[in-house]
Amino acid sequence: MIGGGYVGLVSGACFAEFGTEVTVVETDANKLAALREGRMPIYEPGLEDLVQSNVKAGRLSFTGDLASAVAGTQAVFIAVGTPTRRGDGHADLSYVYAAAEQVARALTGYAVIVTKSTVPVGTGRRIEEIIRSTRPDLDFDVASNPEFLREGNAIGDFMRPDRVVIGAETDRAREVMRLLYRPLYLIEAPIVFTAIETAELTKYAANAFLAMKVTFINEMADLCERVGADVHDVARGIGLDGRIGRKFLHPGPGYGGSCFPKDTLALLRTAQDYGAPSRLVEATVAVNDARKSSMAMRVINACGGSVRGKTIAVLGLTFKPETDDMRDSPALAIVSRLVGDGAAVRAFDPEGMEQARPLLPDAVVYCTDALDAASGADALVLITEWNEFRALPPARLGEAMRGRVLVDLRNVYDPVAMRQYGFTYYDIGRST
Ligand code: UGA
Repeated sequence: MIGGGYVGLVSGACFAEFGTEVTVVETDANKLAALREGRMPIYEPGLEDLVQSNVKAGRLSFTGDLASAVAGTQAVFIAVGTPTRRGDGHADLSYVYAAAEQVARALTGYAVIVTKSTVPVGTGRRIEEIIRSTRPDLDFDVASNPEFLREGNAIGDFMRPDRVVIGAETDRAREVMRLLYRPLYLIEAPIVFTAIETAELTKYAANAFLAMKVTFINEMADLCERVGADVHDVARGIGLDGRIGRKFLHPGPGYGGSCFPKDTLALLRTAQDYGAPSRLVEATVAVNDARKSSMAMRVINACGGSVRGKTIAVLGLTFKPETDDMRDSPALAIVSRLVGDGAAVRAFDPEGMEQARPLLPDAVVYCTDALDAASGADALVLITEWNEFRALPPARLGEAMRGRVLVDLRNVYDPVAMRQYGFTYYDIGRST
């Protein structure tokens, strides 16, 4: 497994749990040292235990030496980063191609080289060319096996997936992949074999579709507020139609994270390049960007049109709960705008504060818990729906705060109850 980041580490530990001997190659010395000591560089529920138990069982190990890890293996997964390239929005594949070249040099016999990183259509073919030109003598196949893991639920998603998509074009490659995923045949998880380009595109299409679904319900939420409808009832009413499905219809401050923003952007660039632009994906990206920026205005309006001189408590900074990931989190736009407009922001997040610090304005005060953040605040904004915020006692919240404005951007509280406790309560699309 080349890359001990989020995807590589979760996939490596899960394959090891399936009974395969896995070596994870990590070139960042600090990360490698941490992994060797059983410390996880990321927060993911269950991962530390899974890694430690597989290391103990001798199925999982970590190294900085790619060549020795790759020699003699039957499958090499490339799980290095594919960040958005500065300037043009394309995925930056330099790490992927560099890994492919090093792998080619190190292989000693037949192997399948599999991309796990999210890579644009055509990357598998390019990797094939790179390996062939680096090692004309080598017997190998290339495959694409995109991941569909959600942060916070990654191990469950790997162990009990809705499906596994594998782009593999020879019997030999398909056989190696079947062996690796053997335990999933026992639980009858659908394993879909396709051409390499198809698997690559499937990953982007899945994320773009989900991003579009979230963006659609967010637009409906805005409309609900205008016409006096309830977005949760609309979501349920449409979601019970099996063709639509109930998941990913929860309104909020806009999608963020390391995947949807990057993948929608990369897909729309690819679509433009190939002369088949996707207006839907383009609109999704634009609508979501605008939504994230407009969320601060909701708070400002809730505070009577200005936050200058006011203290605002912010609960939740990460792009979603159960992660410490701040990438493209709506909190970035919201908090920056509030501070820019003269508010004093007191923030709390159970896992994300360390990651948030370099990304948010220096003036933000980081608090020890939700009640500490609420202390003396004129208004409270909930940005991320961590479970511990759901259970906050409203009376104590009210006592801690100076004002009573509550802006709930994830609809976690009961509007009626909150009003009974004296809050001026704002939510998303419930028209309550
Ligand atoms: C997403 C996909 O769900 C995974 O299948 C995929 O493997 C992963 O990207 C990836 O490409 O690696 P993730 O980014 O971890 O997973 O997060 P999601 O749970 O999908 O949430 C994405 C964003 O949508 C979050 O900001 C979340 O708050 C928002 N969201 C999601 C909503 O606002 N409403 C919903 O109903 C669902």
